[in-house]
Amino acid sequence: MALSSRRILVIFSAVMICFLATPASADDYLVNKTGQLTVFWGRHKEEGSLREACDSGMYTMVIMSFLDVYGHGKYSLDLSGHPLGPIGGDIKHCQHMGVLVSLAIGGFGGDYSLPTKQSALDLADYLWNAYLGGANKGMRRPFGDAWLDGVDFFLERATPAEHYDVLAKALATKHDTGSKPLHLTATPHCRFPDSFVNKALATGTFERIHVRFYDDPECGAYWEQQWDKWTAAYPGSRIFLGLLPSEEQGEYWIFPKDLYYGVMPVVQQAPNYGGVMLWDRFYDERGNYSSYVKYWA
Ligand SMILES: *[C@@H]1O[C@H](CO)[C@@H](O)[C@H](O)[C@H]1NC(C)=O
Ligand SMILES: *[C@@H]1O[C@H](CO)[C@@H](O)[C@H](O)[C@H]1NC(C)=O
Repeated sequence: MALSSRRILVIFSAVMICFLATPASADDYLVNKTGQLTVFWGRHKEEGSLREACDSGMYTMVIMSFLDVYGHGKYSLDLSGHPLGPIGGDIKHCQHMGVLVSLAIGGFGGDYSLPTKQSALDLADYLWNAYLGGANKGMRRPFGDAWLDGVDFFLERATPAEHYDVLAKALATKHDTGSKPLHLTATPHCRFPDSFVNKALATGTFERIHVRFYDDPECGAYWEQQWDKWTAAYPGSRIFLGLLPSEEQGEYWIFPKDLYYGVMPVVQQAPNYGGVMLWDRFYDERGNYSSYVKYWA
């Protein structure tokens, strides 16, 4: 079963590569490409290192996931057992290649919330000093002096009373004072609006929004309406199409041909179309989706 679906994929990759090589096909059909392809890394130890993800040449941004304990004076990173030692060097290597490296907060496990305004300000300070441009003596930097390019809000829970808007504004202020840009991004659920991150997005400080166009039947059937809502609601942000790269991930995987002819031409009509996001590097290696999506994004 698994073998035969992989065979089909291999054949499809070959077909796609052939027709990409044909002049006057891809380039004429998709005229609004940005070439931006973001991938999440850090949920599977077997996916290879951060350096290898960048060296694949497929991605323009890699988001490490997750910082999943915060809000109560304790902070903790979960990278599924990837050794932390080499990551600082890998981040610099990626950045040297022109690949942005960011860190997602939130996720599916851990223990996180922002119950008070102060907890949000504390998290902003922590992120600044531990991962970005700050240098607070006595605060441990897990990746040494590597300075990350961004922070991503990937929230699987939050109440309306939480203070993600305060966090977003505080990080945007750091962006203004720092000597290099801080790319503030969010990765919401597909159905508009996503109540977990809605208040933060309303601050208007997010450069990119990666909408997860999967795991929701409403979005399977009405993805065009959802896409239009997201792109219309945040004209100042670049909206990314979030996809699953492997058929193994289930029913929301989009067949390459459908993606190319049915989806990309529609999403690329939005003036603030940003690119494609893949969840995640582990499954992209198995599905090889980026080897063609890279040329369609
Ligand atoms: C994945 O894509 C790369 C680059 O196009 C190719 O060399 C490799 O054979 C592909 N692997 C699979 C399993 O399709
Ligand atoms: C390209 O983008 C422009 C501006 O958003 C849009 O009007 C046009 O329809 C797009 N073209 C295609 C083929 O997607």
